Amino acid sequence: AKGAAMVTAVAYRLTEQARQIQQTMEEFRLSKEQLLEVKKRMRVEIERGLKKSSHQEATVKMLPTFVRRTPDGTENGDFLALDLGGTNFRVLLVKIRSGKKRSVEMHNKIYAIPIEVMQGTGEELFDHIVHCISDFLDYMGMKSARLPLGFTFSFPCHQTSLDAGILVTWTKGFKATDCEGENVVELLRDAIKRKEEFELDVVAIVNDTVGTMMTCAYEEPNCEVGLIAGTGSNACYMEETKNIEIVEGNEGRMCVNMEWGAFGDNGCLDDIRTTYDQSVDENSLNEGKQRFEKMCSGMYLGEIVRQILLDLTKRGFLFRGQISEALKTRGIFETKFLSQIESDRLALLQVRAILQQLGLDSTCDDSIIVKEVCGTVSRRAAQICGAGMAAVVDKIRENRSLEHLTSQWEWTARSTSCTLSKERTSWEGKGGHSFFSRIFHQTVKDLARNVTSTSCCRRTAAGREPLS
Ligand code: GLC
Repeated sequence: AKGAAMVTAVAYRLTEQARQIQQTMEEFRLSKEQLLEVKKRMRVEIERGLKKSSHQEATVKMLPTFVRRTPDGTENGDFLALDLGGTNFRVLLVKIRSGKKRSVEMHNKIYAIPIEVMQGTGEELFDHIVHCISDFLDYMGMKSARLPLGFTFSFPCHQTSLDAGILVTWTKGFKATDCEGENVVELLRDAIKRKEEFELDVVAIVNDTVGTMMTCAYEEPNCEVGLIAGTGSNACYMEETKNIEIVEGNEGRMCVNMEWGAFGDNGCLDDIRTTYDQSVDENSLNEGKQRFEKMCSGMYLGEIVRQILLDLTKRGFLFRGQISEALKTRGIFETKFLSQIESDRLALLQVRAILQQLGLDSTCDDSIIVKEVCGTVSRRAAQICGAGMAAVVDKIRENRSLEHLTSQWEWTARSTSCTLSKERTSWEGKGGHSFFSRIFHQTVKDLARNVTSTSCCRRTAAGREPLS
């Protein structure tokens, strides 16, 4: 009888433990009602950002970009491009040919930006950038050509024209001094002058969301939404100029950089934020800022997972209750590990191998839990992004007074553009795609009103692959 009682006690402890783990995960599982609420609140913030009277204190800034149309294929020439603000800093040479035989040829080189430079002085940062450009021009043998340069600068900027952008605030891992409140195009021009080695014409500054949208639009004229689900999270779309009250003029459309990463900074998402989200925020470079981004983008998802694992371990549910040095290390869970672990096809043994690589000794039970934690955190990320996007798609449909819209999505690694049209088009296909894009897609479909057939494809180096 005593043995039976003990077995019952152990079983009870196990089910109680399972219940508590599930209860923790439950906070991350959002119901359709909750997601609809997220969509509704995003819509409120969109309107606040657009209206002159509320723009000042709005959290979702809805920044004008002065991009009034997407490319149409008549573009021609050689351009230099910079891409700053993601995981990598890139310098590119882009050769565009128009006419019957349209072509785009690209050469690029990736450069590291050491953390001391990201968080040093503005002058050091821009000197470093110009040093990389110089290296690239040598490498391409083009130092003497005075090329036009486009600057993809993936941070919030107040623009008054296509070639001026005042940095509102750094986000993600950047914190260089003396840049906020400054026109970053001038900071770049000054650094080029200091170097005295070559000349360039800085002709445009664009957000990465805008760059993504324009790239897709080059081949799909109806493309008018850009989304980045990368190190940070953000979206842009073509808005009616008359609705962007801080811009003069009522004609046509202009792309707005939403800066939706800051959604929730006024507390409007507090009811769905968990204590783990709060810890991630407290440990970040910009506490209280970019709250939505911190719930759904690459720079932070691994940290959310780590916070949960830490807590479950403290409570004795994981890793035999032993908190290892690895688990205490910030940033140990890179998002790439997270996407590996969450992949449907990955067997638990492989999950354990990944944990082992991270210095975490796991049992089989541990790996089951870790896998579930990763899946739950990623799912919520994709769902809230989808909810935000549903608000955007609704807005566009209403702008055009349309009963119905069809959308078509194109994914590259982690950026997305969306083509909208009045006609029914669909991009049928087979083949799996990443967990994130699947859930994102499903959510937009479930939440947007009168938007159907959100078919999509993936763009790879080899071309486009249709996806179901
Ligand atoms: C951050 C930046 C935003 C950028 C996004 C994706 O949210 O503030 O400008 O588009 O990251 O890189």
